[in-house]
Amino acid sequence: MGAAVPEEVAFDHAVPRGEPILEVRELVKHFPLTKGVVFKKQVGAVKAVDGVSFDLMQGETLGIVGESGCGKSTLAKVLMNLEPATSGSVRYKGEEISRLSGAGLKAVRRNIQMVFQDPYTSLNPRMTVGDIIGEPFEIHPEVAPRGERRKAVQDLLDVVGLNPEYINRYPHQFSGGQRQRIGIARGLALKPEVIICDEPVSALDVSVQAQVINLLEQLQGEFNLSYMFIAHDLSIVRHISDRVGVMYLGKVVEIGSDAEIYDHATHPYTQALLSAVPVPDPRARETRDRIVLTGDVPSPANPPSGCRFRTRCWKAQEKCALEVPLLASPAWLDGLALHDSACHFAAERGADPGGAAGPPETV
Ligand SMILES: Nc1ncnc2c1ncn2[C@@H]1O[C@H](COP(=O)(O)OP(=O)(O)O)[C@@H](O)[C@H]1O
Ligand code: SF4
Ligand SMILES: [Mg+2]
Repeated sequence: MGAAVPEEVAFDHAVPRGEPILEVRELVKHFPLTKGVVFKKQVGAVKAVDGVSFDLMQGETLGIVGESGCGKSTLAKVLMNLEPATSGSVRYKGEEISRLSGAGLKAVRRNIQMVFQDPYTSLNPRMTVGDIIGEPFEIHPEVAPRGERRKAVQDLLDVVGLNPEYINRYPHQFSGGQRQRIGIARGLALKPEVIICDEPVSALDVSVQAQVINLLEQLQGEFNLSYMFIAHDLSIVRHISDRVGVMYLGKVVEIGSDAEIYDHATHPYTQALLSAVPVPDPRARETRDRIVLTGDVPSPANPPSGCRFRTRCWKAQEKCALEVPLLASPAWLDGLALHDSACHFAAERGADPGGAAGPPETV
């Protein structure tokens, strides 16, 4: 058991805080669209992830936000090697991992774990909580030898705030929030360094969401974890993220620190998402201009030319259809507005250097 891992994929060196633990470059995942039953012919591709680059720093939480269907889960699965990348590169502690198989893949899977969105469907209803949390030990017995597993699982239950005596219960005996704690305990079992959380609180009641987020934050400090935290709205990730990346139709359109994104967004799509974030103060709610995005999200099988957001963007001009805007820091901006934004006319709201009109629809 436990085949020796070749030295070049042993991943055992420490990464200093603030250095990248994951480096993602031009990552692409296309799902082929085929026609015909017997002789399948490729007629196109769903460009679910289409050239995504970012770093995940040691010890940080990177929020990834975007509407449903923009490629967040696909990105997570490709990073986890659950889906093969079409092209591009993912380096973990400096080692390329996107084309690993066998022992190398097994070693990296131990270090990068995932917590899934729906605690109701992601836990096998016929397995006890002890078997669910301890299942990863079957694949990596070196982490907890058979005789020590029960104790290891009980310790994990304790760590996520559940009674260790619940080890023989079944998932249906728990609430949604408790089930997500079970999912988190399972994610922690192999002592990973990176956890990719794919909408971990989206299926939970608002009152429970904060408890699960607090638990994730507490575990991050305790176990020195780096998180990628996926969500479909900006308000959920605000509290937990050090940096935030905004995705639209398979691409990252803006990325920056908490303050840069929430208070100095320069991409129209981020500004639209922010304008939809609930504001607790009713007076602020009345005075705030809300940007209403018109039109549907285009199909990722046939994205618009140039800037993919142009079919819904109130600032779109001819250049936007002709040239793909690169994710880079626009030279004409400064201060906290100066961060990566993939827009030809990047500007904070109310300050448009391109002379483009403001949002046409405000309510
Ligand atoms: N296995 C698959 N085969 C074909 N298309 C897929 C597959 N998985 C996801 N997609 C498509 O890829 C796009 C992105 O999906 P997904 O990554 O689930 O988005 P999100 O998590 O942001 O909602 C969607 O158009 C979706 O229909
Ligand atoms: S590049 Fe053009 S269409 Fe795209 S977000 Fe900027 S202004 Fe809008
Ligand atoms: Mg998803």
